[in-house]
Amino acid sequence: MKILVTGGAGFIGANFCAYELKTHPEDTLICLDALTYAGNLASLMGVIGAPNFRFERGDIADRTCVNSLFERERPDIVVNFAAETHVDRSVTDPEVFLRTNILGTQALMDACRAYGVGRFHQVGTDEVYGDLPLDRPDLFFTEETPLHASSPYSASKAGADLLVLAYARTFRLPVSITRCSNNYGPYQFPEKLIPLMISRALSDQSLPVYGKGENVRDWLYVEDHCAAIDLVMRKGREGEVYNVGGHNERANLEVVRTILRELDKPESLITYVTDRPGHDRRYAIDPGKIHKELGWLPTTAFDDGIRATVRWYLENRTWWEAILAGEYQNYYLRMYANR
Ligand code: NAD
Ligand code: TYD
Repeated sequence: MKILVTGGAGFIGANFCAYELKTHPEDTLICLDALTYAGNLASLMGVIGAPNFRFERGDIADRTCVNSLFERERPDIVVNFAAETHVDRSVTDPEVFLRTNILGTQALMDACRAYGVGRFHQVGTDEVYGDLPLDRPDLFFTEETPLHASSPYSASKAGADLLVLAYARTFRLPVSITRCSNNYGPYQFPEKLIPLMISRALSDQSLPVYGKGENVRDWLYVEDHCAAIDLVMRKGREGEVYNVGGHNERANLEVVRTILRELDKPESLITYVTDRPGHDRRYAIDPGKIHKELGWLPTTAFDDGIRATVRWYLENRTWWEAILAGEYQNYYLRMYANR
């Protein structure tokens, strides 16, 4: 089987490439990635050089590039990780989110139609459902929960999901979608909560917690997400959406305190800053469908996953220090200086 992985130089995509080569060594992977600020070839060092792995730099919204790649490679499955992914960036610059996340997805699906691809799998997010109140722990997102996006990022992902389902209905494109909760683990770009807090705490810098730190996210170790995508793209029913999550809800403040404990750093580093506009209160996934239909269950408990993640950032300083040394400094000042 030949699998085209778009966005494979990003956080989840890179973990997915390693997972696929480990669990399906008989398959061939082609990675298409534009190498935006979030893409990093260093995240693929474990797979680059494997005889059944190829990397191609290119933009999913560039139809000439996409079509010539499909013409050359004729993939059996396309799994789309490529996206602009950071909510805060979507608040300051929404346009590129619409271009990559919606028009890029469309360009890929048109190529899938033209070349008769057997499955187009869209990597989606639970953020398309909007948020849940903090005082209703009995409520969860199911696949039937109406889409109710809050940020330009989640709206662009919801737009892409709607387009994917429309292509299934109108053109009978064989598609599937997973909608996962917040991931954490190795190779996550240090703009996201967990790696941002680890990298700053390690140099005794202040830890900017938005609002009161009460917002709740449902955290899943990245390898568990990779296993879910692998199952759905191979065995999931065509035209279906599967929610992915591990029933592991934590308030942001609790996550930051856990990191500080693991690193033996003081809580005095925590600084409360102005809240994110439109900040979603709580995400919580009901993963019943993927469990019942495909037998998927998460395997990494949060305490183990966060310990492994902290250890990874300690042991792979060169990976993230190289990021911090670049354009990232300007990003941090832009986002946090006046909060
Ligand atoms: P990321 O930001 O770490 O990586 C995105 C990758 O896409 C980068 O390698 C980047 O270079 C590439 N890319 C961006 N624009 C591109 C374009 N126009 N053409 C080709 N490549 C492009 O993202 P991530 O956290 O790994 O997320 C991957 C996918 O999973 C996204 O679709 C995201 O919406 C979804 N998702 C993420 C999470 C999470 O917690 N991180 C949770 C659920 C779903
Ligand atoms: P983030 O990692 O950006 O993921 P998402 O917004 O997609 O869930 O943020 C996770 C949570 O952490 C979210 O509630 C916002 C909060 N947060 C902070 O409190 N401080 C920060 O510096 C960042 C980046 C996030």
